[in-house]
Amino acid sequence: MTDLDFDHFRQLVRLRSGLALTPDKAYLVLSRLAPIARAEGLPDVPALLTRLRLGAPEVLLRRCVDAMATHESFFFRDGTPFNLLAERVLPGLIEARRASRSLRIWCAACSSGQEPYSVAMLLQEAGGALAGWRTEIVATDMSESILAKARSGLYTDFEVNRGLSEARRNRWFTQEGAAWRVSPALQQMVSFRPQNLLQGAAGLGTFDVIFCRNVLIYFDVPQKRAIFADLATALADHGALFLGSAETVIGITEAFELTPGAPGLYRPSTVPAALARTA
Ligand SMILES: C[S@@+](CC[C@H](N)C(=O)[O-])C[C@H]1O[C@@H](n2cnc3c(N)ncnc32)[C@H](O)[C@@H]1O
Repeated sequence: MTDLDFDHFRQLVRLRSGLALTPDKAYLVLSRLAPIARAEGLPDVPALLTRLRLGAPEVLLRRCVDAMATHESFFFRDGTPFNLLAERVLPGLIEARRASRSLRIWCAACSSGQEPYSVAMLLQEAGGALAGWRTEIVATDMSESILAKARSGLYTDFEVNRGLSEARRNRWFTQEGAAWRVSPALQQMVSFRPQNLLQGAAGLGTFDVIFCRNVLIYFDVPQKRAIFADLATALADHGALFLGSAETVIGITEAFELTPGAPGLYRPSTVPAALARTA
């Protein structure tokens, strides 16, 4: 592939998804775009990159940017955030929201849906405590193709055996041939919507809990800062933000602080920004 085409593609991916493709990632571009080049009837990936640079339809541009994203996810990923949600965050919110009896949860960059469906299981399992409440899980991702998989609620044997106990698998999924289908009770709790974190969160409303896990790692500091500002606006009073285990607010934003003894659980900062800067 020519430097010109590769640089153009790197720029396209960076602009649209935030992902920084360093020059040593050329091998990744070659392997991830190969099926698309084939499907387009092109001889190879370099030919596809030239086509992208010279002007390709929007749908093809999107497919190529999507192909570079990592969609790795699994049910109850890392355990701790979900235990904290069930044992600390939900009890606090049930108390704080007893007048409105409503809860909104946002799973940003939800990938193939394991995260929002895990949250839905926990809300269902909270049973009586949330009986009669309005609960809504909004799950977003920039990738339309991964959202289509999430919406389908269909998982392979491998996927349902990653993170799910047998009891939960049998309770919340039914087997359909080689696949497992998530129960309608969970499916109707989650609304999947396309959303790019680099384009703000306006229009989604406010949330009591936000999961934004294992995606900020792909962004540079100014992009993270802008996303944290949007998350701070979207998070309601007494709200909770969950980040991935490799993600932090340190040196990026003063809008959130880590909850002591609760890895990955952040709350809106109690220290006014001006004081925090001089502390
Ligand atoms: C590694 S997955 C994380 C899935 C899930 N949050 C978890 O922790 O298991 C990262 C997801 O972020 C999405 N993504 C990447 N850049 C994005 C952006 N700018 N806006 C929204 N989603 C993005 C990708 O499509 C991918 O599905």
